[in-house]
Amino acid sequence: MSWTARFISSRDEGTAAPLFRREVVLPTGHGEVVSAVLRLAAHGVCEASIDGRPVSDELLAPGWTSYEWRTRYSEHDVTERVRGERFAIGIRVGNGWYRGRLGWEGARALYGSRLAVIAELRIRFADGHHHLVATDSEWRTSTGETIADDLYDGQRIDARRARPGWDRPGFDDSEWAHVEELPSDTSELVASTVPPVRRLREIAPASIAPSPSGRMIADFGEDIVGWVRVTVSGAAGSRITVRHAEVLEEGELAIRPLRSARATDEYTLSGGIDVFEPTFTFHGFRYAEIEGWPGWPAGSASDRVAADVATGLTAVVVGSDLPRIGRFSCSDPELTRLHENVVRSAQGNFLSLPTDCPQRDERLGWTGDIAVFAPTAAFLFDAQAFLADWLRDLALEQQANGGVVPYVVPDLFRHTGIPPALEPFDATAVWGDAAAWVPWALWQAYGDPAVLREAYPSMAAHARRVRSLLSADGVWDAGFQFGDWLDPTAPPDDPMAAAADPGVVATASAYRTARILSETAAVLGRSGDVAEFEAQAEALRAAFRRLFVSDRTITSDCATVYSLAIVFGLLDDDQLGWAGDRLAESVAASGHRISTGFAGTPFVLDALTLTGHLDDAYRLLLQRECPSWLYPVTLGATTIWERWDSMLPNGAVNPGEMTSFNHYAFGAVADWMHRSIGGLAPAEPGYRRILVEPRVGGGISWAETSLETPLGRASVRWELEGERAHLAVVVPPGSTALLRVGDLERELAGGSHELTVPVSPSVSAAAAPVPAPNPASLNSPRPVA
Ligand code: BGC
Repeated sequence: MSWTARFISSRDEGTAAPLFRREVVLPTGHGEVVSAVLRLAAHGVCEASIDGRPVSDELLAPGWTSYEWRTRYSEHDVTERVRGERFAIGIRVGNGWYRGRLGWEGARALYGSRLAVIAELRIRFADGHHHLVATDSEWRTSTGETIADDLYDGQRIDARRARPGWDRPGFDDSEWAHVEELPSDTSELVASTVPPVRRLREIAPASIAPSPSGRMIADFGEDIVGWVRVTVSGAAGSRITVRHAEVLEEGELAIRPLRSARATDEYTLSGGIDVFEPTFTFHGFRYAEIEGWPGWPAGSASDRVAADVATGLTAVVVGSDLPRIGRFSCSDPELTRLHENVVRSAQGNFLSLPTDCPQRDERLGWTGDIAVFAPTAAFLFDAQAFLADWLRDLALEQQANGGVVPYVVPDLFRHTGIPPALEPFDATAVWGDAAAWVPWALWQAYGDPAVLREAYPSMAAHARRVRSLLSADGVWDAGFQFGDWLDPTAPPDDPMAAAADPGVVATASAYRTARILSETAAVLGRSGDVAEFEAQAEALRAAFRRLFVSDRTITSDCATVYSLAIVFGLLDDDQLGWAGDRLAESVAASGHRISTGFAGTPFVLDALTLTGHLDDAYRLLLQRECPSWLYPVTLGATTIWERWDSMLPNGAVNPGEMTSFNHYAFGAVADWMHRSIGGLAPAEPGYRRILVEPRVGGGISWAETSLETPLGRASVRWELEGERAHLAVVVPPGSTALLRVGDLERELAGGSHELTVPVSPSVSAAAAPVPAPNPASLNSPRPVA
């Protein structure tokens, strides 16, 4: 769509959070305004209002994309706002990702040093007349009450600098500066197709109490992403500081894990009643330390003041407003809690883009994290538009890198250089595989081939790049790899030192990718490519077996390598028995504690299940000792942690440089929970056919799982009664299901079904070995015969 408007900017480059305003007098004689639509984008993040009222509830717009090629614009219907003859448009702009800090090495203003906004208000009158109001040199600009803002560091607001009425008609802006029109390239502007970032929830403090050193700490009860809205009155010029942290250490904020992110908001009071809301930043936190609250500490009055603080503080949860579609609960409250924590971490890390973590000086679109989490994300939320949009940036960055998928998207490192520890830069297993694994997960979940069609060039370029990196033996054993990142045996300062051989992980992943490519080419009717990638897959499989499999052992002999070999389909049927047994032995030898990292963890339960070791799968899932999925739950975690032991059993924070308490990658286990405990899995893309196969075990007596599929709602509820299970299954119209419980197999048509089936002890313990899975339908069930 073409633009008449120009990007406008303040002439003073360094201005913090500039305000832009324009007063509009509508032409008369054309009758009523029948429609008014505001299109808006910024270099920075922006908020627009008409006559002082926000034009939408969108926050941190336009979000972060690969700005060199794509900046989203949003459109807002403001017809109701422009009824009068005269009105004012006000827009504030913050640094956001465009001009703020990015990454841990202090980079700033990577995309440009000038904040700017572009807006077009298109008005249509009853008689068909059109009127356009566009950002141009007529607009005026000034500073406002925000004196500093940064996504990592926080926001400073001085309420005394507010300019009452600046966004309403009749305001005297004669002292305001004229804006500068920037030479505009509007070809980068693309209509937003993603759910906007919004306020999602508000939370009152669960408690407010002094820390051992006497600081006031508010606990919001859960690790969230957003900010604290502060309502307060006090002496003009006095200052309140709000610092954030995810956990406490010895009763004080543990800020070391934030590294250089200050995560601090500062407010200077006006003397009246002030409401501060720092909408140009966000923090990952559960605790907020409040300094400078009027009257604190006040000896005997502190209870009253604490009550005052409690009503003055509200945590506002902020994130991309993805529709929630999938749910799970079961008889084990800790497992249900684990699932809730996965949801909270997904929500906290889906803020404009899929990030690794929301709190420290990072918050980047790490490809590996979403590569393994995509199937879970696509079940919990309708993540199609959100992830498909991120894949557009991935493809553009990949092109700019000569076909190599970058580690993070948008690719910060293309601007700052690759950190030496991650060199030499080239395609990597799991991380780079996001190019194929994420679209494949979307296809499985939603069944829309458009995602595959659009992503295909990027998927294929990645698979071909990987092919070019294989050694003469046909395996992928050279170059930099993240490998089985954060395997719990890796020392805190060396997250890549995993038990799994990186070449085994890489070759197995390359095989999975090649199989996905051949399947995708088949879906898209590209028969030449089917043959190419099928050959690539077969060559990788043969090389894997030749170099890495011997004597009923896989090189490096640890849980991750067996898991990948089994689930990705690298072994023949007659090898699955020993591989599964070896995996089960390895899992048991670790005391049914986790021994896998980013690469192996998403697949270990499937590998155990597929080879008849369901009992071991449950023992691993239900483990409460560290490292395990439930260990954080026993410590009161409300999110998924980056490390299995982000918090050590003695309550100390892990000394590693990277210690986040909100990282969704290990939450990929929820995908197994949905399919295997819940019994709800897509047997065909988009749940056109469903596999209902609950794997009863682990002492769980009931489970309930539901999903809004593209065809409608599907749900499975089961409850044990002795040796029988009562099942209630809803199959959406237009879909069919295969119910499989123990020996029983039954076809289910669309509609509601209730039945009681015998559950033999072999089902509640280890089931018989099953045939090899279809490697291309990874993270989805083996094919239904
Ligand atoms: C991120 C991870 C990421 C990893 C890879 C970390 O700093 O938080 O989640 O995948 O780096 O290097």
